[in-house]
Amino acid sequence: MEIIRTPAAMTAWANSILAAGQTIGLVPTMGFFHEGHLRLMRTAKEKADRAVVSLFVNPIQFGANEDLDRYPRDFPRDCGLAEAEGVDVLFAPGVQDMYPPEASTRVMVSGLTDVLCGASRPGHFSGVTTVVAKLFHLIKPQCAVFGRKDFQQLAVIRRMAADLNWDVEIIGHPIVREPDGLAMSSRNTYLSGPERQAALCLSRAIAHARRRVREGLVEAEILLQEVDWLLQQEAVTIEYASLVDQATLRPLAVLQKGVVLALAIKAGATRLIDNDILFEEH
Ligand code: PAJ
Repeated sequence: MEIIRTPAAMTAWANSILAAGQTIGLVPTMGFFHEGHLRLMRTAKEKADRAVVSLFVNPIQFGANEDLDRYPRDFPRDCGLAEAEGVDVLFAPGVQDMYPPEASTRVMVSGLTDVLCGASRPGHFSGVTTVVAKLFHLIKPQCAVFGRKDFQQLAVIRRMAADLNWDVEIIGHPIVREPDGLAMSSRNTYLSGPERQAALCLSRAIAHARRRVREGLVEAEILLQEVDWLLQQEAVTIEYASLVDQATLRPLAVLQKGVVLALAIKAGATRLIDNDILFEEH
């Protein structure tokens, strides 16, 4: 596996691969890999001739009071894991390489970014779309793989790619969970034992919602009351529990195909998100 540090070297590599008639699959990440990241890498390997993983803790998507400084990092371990997956290139640029002092352009998707996580994290999604746009330009992938764990991020990136006529296939990978149901996340390392136990209310609420939909419940309001009650049984703070359309992110009153249960809580100081497309088989 090649480790590339600069944007210029990255684009030179991409150009040589494309000139040889091969395709590139990209997995953008902020590192501290877990099985969720590794599955995305496997998908990229299946879908394209060459797999590139970017590892960049993107400062502009963190708010002033967020965890940029203590975001978990372990570069040597990440290199070993990506290499074992057969990744061709790990692109790990420095902050100055991605954002030289004179940089003053942002890529912003409106509407979709004002709700759910966007409501409490102003500027977060423009940080994400700016870095992903830069990565698409530098790496020139034919497909890019994102996790449905961050389903709003996926919807925003799909919108950006469509609006900017980007010739790249955006692939959404199902959520990868721990055996007890907790969605994998680099931020799970912040959780104390009791907080981790409390966080299981997320996957419990999702299982409950799936059951209620199977039973034929159609009123979103009733399901939200039940979900709220379930979450409140644990020592967590609810940021939002919403039933929204998976593409428009608008709230739905009637439970129907395409409805997503989207959850965000705080367990201690750690913000956790989870979601599920209720009518979709796993
Ligand atoms: P990061 O949190 O490192 O996640 C990288 C990718 O892994 C994202 O597409 C995310 O949705 C996916 N992922 C994380 N946990 C997952 C899980 N349990 N199951 C499936 N996929 C999972 O998301 C980011 O980084 C950044 O915002 C980024 C897109 C790289 C832009 O900086």
